[in-house]
Amino acid sequence: MSLSKELLSWYDLNRRELPWRGTRDPYRIWLSEIMLQQTRVETVERYYQRFLERYPTVQALARAPEDDVLKLWEGLGYYSRARNLHAAARRVAEELGGAFPDSASGLRSLPGVGPYAANAIASIAYGEPVPALDGNQARVLSRILAHDAPLRSPFDLCAPAAEWIDRRRPGDYNQALMDLGASVCTPKKPRCGECPLAARCRARESGDPESFPRKQPPTAKRVESLTVVLVRCGQGVLVRKRPPHGLLAGLYAFPLIDGHPPLQALPQLLEEEGFRGVRPVQELPRAQHVFTHLVWQMKGALVDADEAPAGWIAVTDPDQVALPSALRRYREIAAELLRP
Ligand code: ADE
Repeated sequence: MSLSKELLSWYDLNRRELPWRGTRDPYRIWLSEIMLQQTRVETVERYYQRFLERYPTVQALARAPEDDVLKLWEGLGYYSRARNLHAAARRVAEELGGAFPDSASGLRSLPGVGPYAANAIASIAYGEPVPALDGNQARVLSRILAHDAPLRSPFDLCAPAAEWIDRRRPGDYNQALMDLGASVCTPKKPRCGECPLAARCRARESGDPESFPRKQPPTAKRVESLTVVLVRCGQGVLVRKRPPHGLLAGLYAFPLIDGHPPLQALPQLLEEEGFRGVRPVQELPRAQHVFTHLVWQMKGALVDADEAPAGWIAVTDPDQVALPSALRRYREIAAELLRP
């Protein structure tokens, strides 16, 4: 039997029942694939249903205000995905008459749809035989081949990926590799005894399947120190929407100050930004957040102020706005401070 037939027989018995399986509606499949990028299946399962209840069609999503979409996305992280999702929905609803492009190459023209998502969507929704080649699929393939060079990108394996794909059931084939990668051919301690492809796996034969894919030497992340200031003003704490581009674009944030200046220096620094009547109250705990290329080492501070410059709004409940997970610790402290 061919590799794909063996894999599909396994999938037919072992597939995970997931809420986006069993449909060929490109809207639903697109939504699931965008949510699943960099996010665990269990997390996505919770968000996916809620999202579809609120936005059952691409038109409903296109009509929604961006802030509402970001708010519903809160907790999934990587917010550029939510902004791109909304922009893509608008493109489909307003410029394409409500129909998603009907091929992988057409799907790639939508904001936020890269080669992986385009291939996943096109294979599942339209049966186009294109590999959904991400880190998981690459791990499985690199083990089958005992591919000995570090992978710069999963696309290093696009030749075998394209050769092995099942032409009649490409969507199931891709999802079978996802399931195999999630449950059997895991990064650590792969369960080769349960693998339908074990007999043809050269990494298993080598005796050390876990050592594939070979690793690139790690690159150091940039470390930034900053101070997150909870400014009590009137009945609330101050937040402002961040600009539409760059880190955490479009999300709300508390005032952020470069470095870790002493608490007593904060009034002057904030007054230079247009805040008035700033009085230091106390230091707050430290927190750290690791982004893809960057680490934030945060100190917190609490101050009171009489006035804020234009653009800042006082929220009485920090959950009213979409704050990034990077600021979660300070959002919790703000919620605690504001609790009546
Ligand atoms: N990860 C990305 N896409 C997926 C899918 N369709 N099913 C399960 N896991 C996935």
